[in-house]
Parts: sequence; structure tokens; C-alpha cells
Amino acid sequence: MTKRVGIVGSGIMGSGIAEVAAKAGTEVVLRSRSQATADAMVAGLEKSLAKQVERGKLEDAERTAVLGRVTAVSDLDALADCDLVIESIVEDLATKKHLFTELDRVCADGAILATNTSTLPVVEMAMETGRPDRVCGVHFFNPAPLMPLVEVVRAITTSDETIAAAREFATACGKTVVDVKDQAGFVVNALLFPYLNNAVKLLDAGVASRDDIDAAMKGGCNFPMGPLELLDLVGLDTSLAILEALYTEFKDPNYAPAPVLRRMVSAERLGRKTGAGFYDYKR
Ligand SMILES: NC(=O)c1ccc[n+]([C@@H]2O[C@H](COP(=O)([O-])OP(=O)(O)OC[C@H]3O[C@@H](n4cnc5c(N)ncnc54)[C@H](O)[C@@H]3O)[C@@H](O)[C@H]2O)c1
Repeated sequence: MTKRVGIVGSGIMGSGIAEVAAKAGTEVVLRSRSQATADAMVAGLEKSLAKQVERGKLEDAERTAVLGRVTAVSDLDALADCDLVIESIVEDLATKKHLFTELDRVCADGAILATNTSTLPVVEMAMETGRPDRVCGVHFFNPAPLMPLVEVVRAITTSDETIAAAREFATACGKTVVDVKDQAGFVVNALLFPYLNNAVKLLDAGVASRDDIDAAMKGGCNFPMGPLELLDLVGLDTSLAILEALYTEFKDPNYAPAPVLRRMVSAERLGRKTGAGFYDYKR
């Protein structure tokens, strides 16, 4: 059973996974590259829990208990006694591979190392370590506290025991688990991203306005969000990286990123996280 989980990365997903794990009763060590961002993550968690108390969704005593389970650190060595470490840093294979080398060095031999990657090959991260049998994907969805699914990803090196432990952790977090194999996009993103990419291409071709594309898919398919709103939520840099990984794997033109997406990333219009994407957001 996972008693202590390390989360590496203080972005949208790292913060959400930390909240989910702490609420499930697990000790959480949050690691960011600077102590200031690690502390900011805890401040964000405090805010999120306070809102839940206000709305009557969480007892005040539970809020205190959840916060008591979370430690924010900048030193990777602080992950030494975690049973499970989930990395949720930038979607870039070289960066993730380097992190896995470091995690293998600092974490206990029996610890499981997991990635929250959306599309990248888990086996390549596993092979950076001396424990490729104890590496898997644990793929949460955005926002992690609300979305019910986790894809547990089996690389060709992953052992049955590792998959069982990852499934047990995700289930303890209250999530529905699906088993997927280590292929770009797994299930959800392999199906979702051609749709999102084609929405950008429709917008660029002037087939409909931004608002009408989103309204069409909400009204016509009963989706809770339109595709352009969803891209802003995911982050356009992460979306571009996901499409690039899918295209690299399959060479399917549906996965070739819409050129305007790349231009928006260059212009740092990354969506909600930078205050502007397809929509503008107050910061
Ligand atoms: N955004 C989503 O909807 C979503 C959903 C599921 C999974 N994911 C995956 O989660 C991971 C993180 O995505 P996110 O949306 O939280 O991104 P984000 O941009 O919000 O956060 C990325 C984090 O990585 C850190 N980082 C950047 N470069 C780094 C480096 N060289 N070394 C260490 N840390 C570094 C940043 O400081 C930041 O804290 C990615 O693998 C992504 O594919 C994202």
C-alpha cells in the first residue's frame, strides 16, 4: 500500500494530483525546483480546500488533516522515503528522462517511479533507471480533483506487481482505473487530440468563429466544454507536445499540429495558465 507519495512538478497537474492524494489519506511530498513555487503550490491547495469548506463540501477538521499530510520541498533527496513518486513536469522526453535518472538515484530500491505523461513513451523513461520493472504511467486528467479517470500505463518492462500497486493507489484516490499499453496517447488522448486539432484547423480555415465552434460541439454533442475552451484548459504548449508525440509515433496527418497552434505557443499564448489563448482570461 502506498503510504507516502512524491509529486514532482508544480504545474496544473502536479498541484491537482497532490490534492487528490492528500485527500485520500496519503502523505504527500511535493517537489518543485524552487522552494518558492513549492510553497506557492501549498498556498494554492490551502485556497482550494478553504473554498471547499465554505461550500460545505469539506469539514474544517478534514481540511487541517489534509494540509498536515503535505510537505513542500525543493530538494529531490527529500523523496528518498516515498513508496511511489509521480512526475508531472513539462511534456518533454529529454527532460523527463533526465529526471528519471535522478529519481532512480535518490529513491529507495523498492519505490515505484511513475509518469503522468500524456503521450510520451514510458519505456524510454523506465530504461533510464535500474528498475524498469518498477516504472509505469499513472495518467490523471485535468482538473485532477474532479476528473474520475486514471489510465494506468504498462510499459513492456513493467511488472504485474507495479501495475497492481499503481491501480491500488489510483483506486484509493477514488478514481476509475483503465489499463492501457504504452502507446502514444494511450486511449483518451489518441481519440481526443485529432478532434481538438481539427477544431483549430476549422477555425483557421474560417469555417466558423471561435464561439460558434465551441457552441456547436456543446450543443450538438452535449460536450461540457467546446474544443477551443478545452485546449486553453489543457495548455497549448502541452497540447502541441501531445500532438507532436502522436505524429512522431503514427505519422497520421490528423495528428500533425495545426500550424496556428505552433504560432500561438511561440507567442506564449498558452491558454489559461498565461492568461490568454483562444480566449482571454483575467489574471
Ligand atoms: N494539462 C493537462 O490537461 C494534462 C492532463 C494530463 C496529463 N498532463 C501531463 O502532466 C505533465 C505536466 O503538465 P501540466 O499541464 O501540469 O504543465 P504545466 O506547464 O502546468 O507545468 C509543468 C511543470 O514542469 C516544470 N518544469 C518545466 N521544465 C522543467 C524542467 N526542466 N525540470 C523540472 N521541471 C520542469 C514547470 O516548472 C512546471 O511546474 C505533462 O507530462 C502533461 O503531459 C497534462
